[in-house]
Amino acid sequence: MCNTISIESEKGFFSDAINAVKARTADLALKYFIETYGCQMNEHDSEKLAGMLRECGYTKAETKKDADLILFNTCCVREHAEKRTFGNVGFVKELKAENPRLILGVCGCMMQQKDVAKRLFDRFPFVDLVFGTHELKNFPEMLLKALEEKRVFQISESDGEVIEGLPVERVEGFSTFVNIMYGCNNFCTYCIVPYVRGRERSRKAEDIVNEVREVVSSGYKEITLLGQNVNSYSSDGLDFPALLRLVCREVPELKRLRFMTSHPKDLSDGLIQAMSELDNLCKHIHLPVQSGSDRILKAMNRKYTSGAYLELVDKLRSAVANVEITTDIIVGFPGETDEDFEATCELVRRVGYSNAYTFAYSPRGGTIAARMENQIPEDEKKRRLNTLNAVLAETIPSNNDKYIGFEGEILVEGVDHRGDPLLFGKLSNFKMVYVEGDEKLIGTFVPVKVDGYRFNSLFGHIIDG
Ligand code: SAH
Ligand code: SF4
Ligand code: F3S
Repeated sequence: MCNTISIESEKGFFSDAINAVKARTADLALKYFIETYGCQMNEHDSEKLAGMLRECGYTKAETKKDADLILFNTCCVREHAEKRTFGNVGFVKELKAENPRLILGVCGCMMQQKDVAKRLFDRFPFVDLVFGTHELKNFPEMLLKALEEKRVFQISESDGEVIEGLPVERVEGFSTFVNIMYGCNNFCTYCIVPYVRGRERSRKAEDIVNEVREVVSSGYKEITLLGQNVNSYSSDGLDFPALLRLVCREVPELKRLRFMTSHPKDLSDGLIQAMSELDNLCKHIHLPVQSGSDRILKAMNRKYTSGAYLELVDKLRSAVANVEITTDIIVGFPGETDEDFEATCELVRRVGYSNAYTFAYSPRGGTIAARMENQIPEDEKKRRLNTLNAVLAETIPSNNDKYIGFEGEILVEGVDHRGDPLLFGKLSNFKMVYVEGDEKLIGTFVPVKVDGYRFNSLFGHIIDG
C-alpha cells in the first residue's frame, strides 16, 4: 500500500515556498514557457508545473524569447527524444545572454536517469535547475533557490507517495486528463518507463471522482483517465472497471470518459462489460500489441501471445458496438527475424486497427533488451518500419467502408483551414469526422452522418439531432 500526501496537509512548506517566490518576484510580471516532450503523462505534469507557476504569480509566455523561466519537460522513451532535448537546451544559451534573469530548468523522465541528468548539468553550466519525476511538489522551493541564483540538482529515488492537491493549469479546450495512477510494474524488456516513473501507485477513487467533478464543472466535456497500465488500477478494493462505473455514476453530466493505456495482459472481461454497458464510456481502446510474434512477445516480457491478443480483439468486437482499436508496434526488437516481422504484419492485417503508432526499436541504457545479442542494424529496422507503415496504409482505410451512411455524434474540436474550412471532431470511438458547419459549434456535440473517407479520417454532414 502506498501513502497519499496531500498538499493541504503539507500546506506549511508548500505555500511558504510559493509565498516566498511571490514576494521575491512581485512587480516583475514574470513569464514562463514550458516545452513538453513525450506522452500524456508528461503533458499533464507540465499542467501541474504551470499550475504552481500561476500560484507563484507567473503568466504564460507566447514564445521562449519572451520568457523569464523556460522549462524542458523531457522524455527518454526512445533515443531521438534525448538527442533533441540536448540540442534544444544548448540553444537556450543565446537567450540567456539576451535576458540575464532568464532561468532554465530541465525536468521529466530523462532527468530521472541520474547519469544523463548529471551529464546535462555538467555540460551546460547555464542550466539552473534539474529535477526528476518525483520532485513535482518541491518545485516552488527549487524555483526559489534558482531565483536566489543557486544551481539546483534534485533527483530522488523514492516514488512511494501519491501527491494530492497540486494546482493545475489545464490546456484550454474541451478535453483534458486526470491521472488515476502513476508508475509501472511491468518491465517490458525494451522500456525505460518503470525506471524513470517508479512502481505503480493508484490514486484513491474519491480523489479521482472529486477531480473529475471539478474539471467537468469548469467546462470540460471529455476526460481521459491516465496511467501507464490503467487495467491494473487498484485502490481500496476497487479495480479499474469498478472505478469507471463509479465515475460514470457519480458524474453523469460527463458525456465522454476515455482511458489510456491498456496492457493486453490485464484487460478483463469486467472492462469489456463496462465498455459495452456504460453509455458515457467511449468505445475506443488503445491496446498496444508491440509484436505479432510469440517468440518476440516473450522476449519483450509482454506476458500474452498473439493468439490471446486476437481473442481479446474478438471479444471486444462482439461485445462493444462500433468499438475501434488503436495500437503501438515496435519493429526490429533484438533477434527479430523476417518471419517474426511477417507475423506482426499478419496480425495487423487480422485486427484492422483504426490507427497505429509504429516505432523502430531503440536501445535504452539499463534495460534488459539493450544488453541482448542480435541487435538489428538500423537500416534493417528502417526497412521494416517502412514495410509495416505500408501495410497499415492499406489496412486502415479498408476499415472505413463500413462507415458510409454511419450516424453518430462528434465533439467539435476546431476548424481545419487547409482547404474549404471544415469543422472536425471525434466520434466516441476516436474516429475523426470532418463536416461543414458554423464555428460556433466548436465545443459542442453535433450529430453527423458519414458520406466518405480519406485515409483514417471520415467526411460527412451535420444532421438533425
Ligand atoms: N505504458 C504504455 C506506453 C509506454 S511508451 C504501454 O505500455 O503501452 C509508448 C510506446 O513507446 C510503447 O507502447 C512502445 O511501443 C514504444 N516504446 C517504448 N520503449 C521503446 C523502445 N525502447 N524503442 C522503441 N519504442 C519503444
Ligand atoms: Fe513500458 Fe511496458 Fe510499462 Fe508500458 S507496460 S510503460 S511498455 S514497461
Ligand atoms: Fe512518457 Fe516518455 Fe516518460 S513516453 S512516461 S514521457 S519516458
